[in-house]
Amino acid sequence: MVLPHSMPLVPLPHSATVGDDRTPLARIVGVIGDSPAVEQLIDGISKRTGVRLARSTESDGPADSTISLRIDPDAAAAEGYTLTVGSSTEIVGADEAGLYYGVQTLLQLLREGDDGWGLTHASISDAPRFPRRGVMLDVTRHFFSVAEVEKFIDATSALKFNHLHLHLTDDQGWRIQIDSWPKLTERASLTAAGGDPGGFYSKDDYRAIVSYAAARHMVVIPEIDLPGHTHAIGVAYPELVEAPVLNDGLVAESARLGQPLPVKGEPYVGWGVGHSSVRIHEERTYDFVRDVVRELAELTPGPYIHIGGDESLGTPQADFDVFVERATEIVVEAGKIPVAWHEVGAAAGIAEGTIGQYWGKTTPEGTHAEEAAHFVERGGALIMSAADVAYLDMKYSSDFPLGLTWAGVVDVRKAYEWEPTEVLDLPDSAILGVEAPLWSETARTIRDVEQLVFPRAAAQAEIAWSPRSAPERTWESFRSRLATLAPLWETADIDFHRSEEIPWTDR
Ligand code: ACM
Repeated sequence: MVLPHSMPLVPLPHSATVGDDRTPLARIVGVIGDSPAVEQLIDGISKRTGVRLARSTESDGPADSTISLRIDPDAAAAEGYTLTVGSSTEIVGADEAGLYYGVQTLLQLLREGDDGWGLTHASISDAPRFPRRGVMLDVTRHFFSVAEVEKFIDATSALKFNHLHLHLTDDQGWRIQIDSWPKLTERASLTAAGGDPGGFYSKDDYRAIVSYAAARHMVVIPEIDLPGHTHAIGVAYPELVEAPVLNDGLVAESARLGQPLPVKGEPYVGWGVGHSSVRIHEERTYDFVRDVVRELAELTPGPYIHIGGDESLGTPQADFDVFVERATEIVVEAGKIPVAWHEVGAAAGIAEGTIGQYWGKTTPEGTHAEEAAHFVERGGALIMSAADVAYLDMKYSSDFPLGLTWAGVVDVRKAYEWEPTEVLDLPDSAILGVEAPLWSETARTIRDVEQLVFPRAAAQAEIAWSPRSAPERTWESFRSRLATLAPLWETADIDFHRSEEIPWTDR
């Protein structure tokens, strides 16, 4: 049994020895280095303690009175770092991302004790298990401002997540400026689920998010959900979409929730799915997709554009296949790698190298596993977002005030205890990593988002980052380590859910 404070680190490092001694923060005179991570460390320490360290040089004092940051490509694998706190305090990043992650680890070792603030002595060598560690934010069902998204980036990159997938379009709203189709934001961004206010990102807003994320080593993946989840497109350009298809499930669920049914050309404020489709046999649809993908590609330094593809229940299968084959090819023509929800794997001819995002359950149902496998047959790979464990919008308990339950009730332990390489019958090399999505039907404010995301995102961070078989990769160790994030989240004003499963600490 690991004692609560003996290893106050999440995600668990690759290898770490943490001691009992501390270097008092009062002894540190400054931070040495020429990376942007120096300022990020100074800011992080300042926000936490009120102490603003200076930038300093080797000559400013003995080795244990400065914090030294540098890059050495031989220090660790990509995104990795070594960290020492003791007779000297030093972080050596394999690259800038590694240095940033070393800073995040050091901020977790910064603790307030009876004798004031100090850095817990440690010797750590760390690098991620998976290259893909993602979170998704749905800004369509409810819209979140640039500042709110930036706060979300701070909190998730601190857990060493390196991809932010933004779900930018859905039935309830279109949230990104597209110059060639201006009515999308003029007409189809005004409302959100429940009739709440909408919003959209101008191109400058979006660039601000992308660059804020990049400074924290997160790649932004924009998603335009097609060919379903497209009711909002029809509010702006009715000629591009079919009339709503009202399936029995949608009608029953809308009645149960007291929500209106979708009406073509009018904003949809319910959250039923599967009723909308763009017109597959109109060339104008592909002009539209090409324009949107081109403008998004121009805004996107990262390699990926996500074209959705989930829950196109109103689109006949043959039409769906034609559409996603063309849409994935349009992304390739724009110079990007397509990403798509796993249903897209039903189409034989999807663009080679398309990455699938599996959102079925940990025990796959129906044709989900075959659809996922098809991405690998086409030279792609998979991101694992198993809905019954990794979906951050499921309720923690059946009486939790926020969230949905269609994939299950997901307490912190359930979120932690799954293994992404064991869901599908595929070689480990086919699994790029993990993404934890936050759908925002019930999350009306960023506080609501934080309640659902934290602490469960920390479980997904550890699954994605930490070695699978370390002795401390257990629920008992995780819950005691996770407990020590409470003071960090409080200082950052993160409204995390104080789940009773976790013995939260004060400092
Ligand atoms: C999804 O949850 N519809 C991808």
